[in-house]
Amino acid sequence: MNTVVVGAQWGDEGKGKVIDVLAEDADILIRYQGGNNAGHTVIVDDTEFIFHLVPSGLLHPGKVGLIGNGVVVDPEALLEETQRLRARGINVAEAVKLSDQAHLIFPYHKKLDVLEEAARTGRIGTTGRGIGPCYVDKVARCGIRVADLLNEEVFAAKLKQNLAEKNRWLSALYREQPFEFQPLFDQYRRYAKLLEPHVVHGARFLHAAIAQKKRLLFEGAQGTLLDIDHGTYPYVTSSNATAGGVCTGAGVPPTCIERIIGVAKAYTTRVGEGPFPTEFPPALMEQIRTKGREFGATTGRPRRCGWFDAVIVRHAVQVNGCDSIAVTKLDVLDDMPTIQVCIGYQLGGRRLDEFPSDMSALARCQPVYESLPGWQCETGEAERFEELPTAAQAYLKQLEHLVTVPICLISTGSKREQAFKVGRW
Ligand code: IMP
Repeated sequence: MNTVVVGAQWGDEGKGKVIDVLAEDADILIRYQGGNNAGHTVIVDDTEFIFHLVPSGLLHPGKVGLIGNGVVVDPEALLEETQRLRARGINVAEAVKLSDQAHLIFPYHKKLDVLEEAARTGRIGTTGRGIGPCYVDKVARCGIRVADLLNEEVFAAKLKQNLAEKNRWLSALYREQPFEFQPLFDQYRRYAKLLEPHVVHGARFLHAAIAQKKRLLFEGAQGTLLDIDHGTYPYVTSSNATAGGVCTGAGVPPTCIERIIGVAKAYTTRVGEGPFPTEFPPALMEQIRTKGREFGATTGRPRRCGWFDAVIVRHAVQVNGCDSIAVTKLDVLDDMPTIQVCIGYQLGGRRLDEFPSDMSALARCQPVYESLPGWQCETGEAERFEELPTAAQAYLKQLEHLVTVPICLISTGSKREQAFKVGRW
């Protein structure tokens, strides 16, 4: 079944774990947006593997991973990752495919990302990986794609033109040193030789796979609330992390998608700036951050933590068309005597059941909570829904009710075995 996995919160929902479970039944794994701002963690045999660009289901033998046209690719990061996969015995020459229409990240994108962030009055808290500036070039139609990199003449001309513009920008606006053409050209031509064996026309590659009845698994990066259109703009990333991004970012029609799974933690986290109505007070924040090891997989930054917000997850269910949700990190709530779930917001004298588009309004929203009893025992050993403590079952049933779709998978720990499917799969 062709499946999309999307984040239903602000990213870091544990998609890597869910994808790892689903990848068993898939043939081709596809990233369709974002870049190495993402960090999908998978733990196999007590060894942790963090994926940034390559689809994270690749740890299963015999799978093929495609980096789609909608992804922005830092070649250095990609090559470092393929190196690590090779060290694990994966035949990367066969397993990793790269769309020739994907846009490339250059050092000037990373430089601009950091400088622009520092110059902003309202910080976004970007990862500094050059993601936003690379997407800016894509939309401005001056970006450099993988296909350009493979053609020495075209690449030289495009790089010269970009450097002329970026260097003017860097020196006039930020008093920074310009980037030199030759070393950058040589470095990227070296990358071209290493990447070339992986390059395909992404959309055609997938259409051939669909014709052969191969099963596709699309791996969303970040989350719905970080989507450039449907998230908490401007505190978002620069791509469409939602399910709609699959069609544009991989070149497949909506009709080929058969199932959409949203992933949500049993509580909420976010990295970077922006309003977060259910954010914990400091002591609880510290407790959950420590227990949940809530530090960014890409930047190591501490994540902000808060109660489950049913308003934002319901929004995610709607805009993605989720058939079901996977709930991760249930075990992190094991010690809580009482658990709060946000069921709406209070804004001035008004009660809101929906998520406001005006961020200054969201920043003023007070969460309306429903309190549920905690279970205060360990859930990490459960292998079926019925083996969970009654209070945990009641909590999950209430989440299903609030977000309007059933739960299809529950994860109760970081290990591969600590996840089980629920209901009709
Ligand atoms: P950028 O994607 O680096 O431009 O960062 C924009 C915003 O998205 C920042 O708030 C980042 O912290 C956030 N962000 C980007 N990628 C991820 C991710 O994979 N998980 C969580 N937050 C992310």
